[in-house]
Amino acid sequence: MRTILALDQGTTSSRAIAFDLNGRVVALAQREFGQHFPQPGWVEHDAAEIWRTQLAVAQECIQKLTLAPVQTAVGAAEIVAIGITNQRETTVLWDRATGRPVAPAIVWQDRRASARCDELRRAGQAAMIQRKTGLVLDAYFSATKLEWLLDNVPGARARAEAGELAFGTIDSWLIWNLTGGPQGGVHVTDASNASRTLLMNIHTLDWDDELLRLFSIPRALLPRVVPSSGVVAEASARLLGAHIPIAGIAGDQQAATFGQACFAPGMAKNTYGTGCFMLMNTGDRPVASRNRLLSTVGWQGPELAGAQRTAYCLEGSVFMAGATVQWLRDGLQIIDQSSDVEALAASVPDTDDVFLVPAFTGLGAPDWDASARGTLVGLTRGTTRAHIARAALEAIALQSADMFGAMSRDARLPLTELRVDGGASRNNLLMQMQADLLGVPVVRPQVTETTALGAAYLAGLATGVWAGGDAITAQWAVDQRFEPHLTEPARLARIARWREAVQRSGGWAQA
Ligand code: G3P
Repeated sequence: MRTILALDQGTTSSRAIAFDLNGRVVALAQREFGQHFPQPGWVEHDAAEIWRTQLAVAQECIQKLTLAPVQTAVGAAEIVAIGITNQRETTVLWDRATGRPVAPAIVWQDRRASARCDELRRAGQAAMIQRKTGLVLDAYFSATKLEWLLDNVPGARARAEAGELAFGTIDSWLIWNLTGGPQGGVHVTDASNASRTLLMNIHTLDWDDELLRLFSIPRALLPRVVPSSGVVAEASARLLGAHIPIAGIAGDQQAATFGQACFAPGMAKNTYGTGCFMLMNTGDRPVASRNRLLSTVGWQGPELAGAQRTAYCLEGSVFMAGATVQWLRDGLQIIDQSSDVEALAASVPDTDDVFLVPAFTGLGAPDWDASARGTLVGLTRGTTRAHIARAALEAIALQSADMFGAMSRDARLPLTELRVDGGASRNNLLMQMQADLLGVPVVRPQVTETTALGAAYLAGLATGVWAGGDAITAQWAVDQRFEPHLTEPARLARIARWREAVQRSGGWAQA
């Protein structure tokens, strides 16, 4: 059976999924890896562990496909292409000669560069940065993380200037290792990942000298920017049992937008993962947001017949979604497993006016307040863990409603539905809350592994498996549609009350 192998390197786990040519999952392997919080506001990963777990799940997935050891090359030979998708912005700096990271990877959630961003904002740089990159000046993105590494890892800046080190987001790191590492590894990134670094100009799709100077980043560190769909290299047969072309690369949220077949301007999806990321296709030109959303590259490539060659998206990024439920489980310990949250929340009819603002690592879109902190308001003697669980779910839906409102205003067109995916999209209570709070239907597709599927589609388009966007659209099928039930005044009142709670979380870390 011919398959496409998607490698989906996320914030908490490395996954490999093989899809058949109908876009159906035929094998899956997954491994979690360590999360490190060395100081308040810091979040680190071990890039070597990321590579080890990613390689292990790729091999396991190939074995599942064939029921044969990977070394026999049975099965690996059936894989037409590999698509890579990844947690974005997370910054890896490694030694080209040894292949070893020179420091822990700084994860997208890490806030250590917030003060540097404030300094650049005070220096009046935010507008230029936004014009060129489409991004808000925030510690979320890679540039200030990389600058921090160069300034704080002994000898790193001099070694970077001498060309001894390489920088990459996780896609680059995986591809470099998959293609041989120190023995000739290919150092590339795609335009969607590069658009999250604060170093690429989204209009020219190239690294920008003015930005490199501003963040003091030597060009010698940077990967080559390649299309999201197109054969860029071959994975080593020594690792996977056959020389398999790497033909698709995209940041996970862009890949999910592709996997949801959001090919026409105005189509939008929301992925409920660690965070929540809503992306809307805005066509072949970036739309500058007036509502503090991001303009970002969706995907880019010559092979995308039927989908735009370069698609831009507006994006709203919320930092805590599934992670809020994890906090209920691990921090408060009021549920045993994440899936218990639905029944607990459903055991009460409403939150009894309790709001949880999950600003644990600050607030993303549309507030962008790095100093906001988590807030629980409206507690009374009658408040139970069920109310808190329900408030946590509602907070995920309310944050998404804020992004959806901002997106509709920016797009100046009515958004008529929202496609959803990611782990928590299987939570029916949450999806109903979401439809109620948006006032438009929420549509869940049959395949909710849309991030990996999007990467598989990008790789399959480049290798002739699918003819174009129409073939992909034909494979997209609805699982369930959630219709909104709240009246418009009730919906607006709920959102207004939520906004009051959000105000109360603002600025806390500075106070
Ligand atoms: O921007 C961060 C995002 O790419 C992380 O996604 O799915 O790993 O939470 P996820």
